[in-house]
Amino acid sequence: MTKFTVNDKPVSTETAPDTPLLYVLRNELELNGAKFGCGLGQCGACTVLLDGQAIFSCLTPLAAIEGRKVTTLEGLGTIDNPGPVQAAFIEEQAAQCGYCIPGMIMRTQGMLNENPSPSEEEIREHLNTNLCRCGTHMRILRAARRAAGKPPADEAALAERSAT
Ligand code: FES
Repeated sequence: MTKFTVNDKPVSTETAPDTPLLYVLRNELELNGAKFGCGLGQCGACTVLLDGQAIFSCLTPLAAIEGRKVTTLEGLGTIDNPGPVQAAFIEEQAAQCGYCIPGMIMRTQGMLNENPSPSEEEIREHLNTNLCRCGTHMRILRAARRAAGKPPADEAALAERSAT
């Protein structure tokens, strides 16, 4: 039996302790915000928070979360009352197909939990872990900046700087 909390609610499961957390979230708890992408820790679609830090739930076995606190996309807000990071992604219309967005939001939330005022470089480095196959990275970065309370960046200057 593994016991932990998800979005502040106590949970217990008899699923095998080597089962990835992602499978329990989606298949047992019907929390479908976190997505299965690669299953290999390479895409970030499955990102959730463990004790406030972003992790790949596809690589995290149940045994590693005993007694710990898991937060999923559903724990940040609701459709009617989105949390600040969710609201920033909506404002910037950061989704194309949307598959990666829950992971992007959780990665951004994890960054802000650790560092409430990240620099441009820190935002880019942190989000570099997560992939968007549609190519909406510029909007995702704008959403992350907005969530961090940063002014909109001069995109042309940033592109020029990263090209040099
Ligand atoms: Fe976990 Fe891709 S599904 S990193």
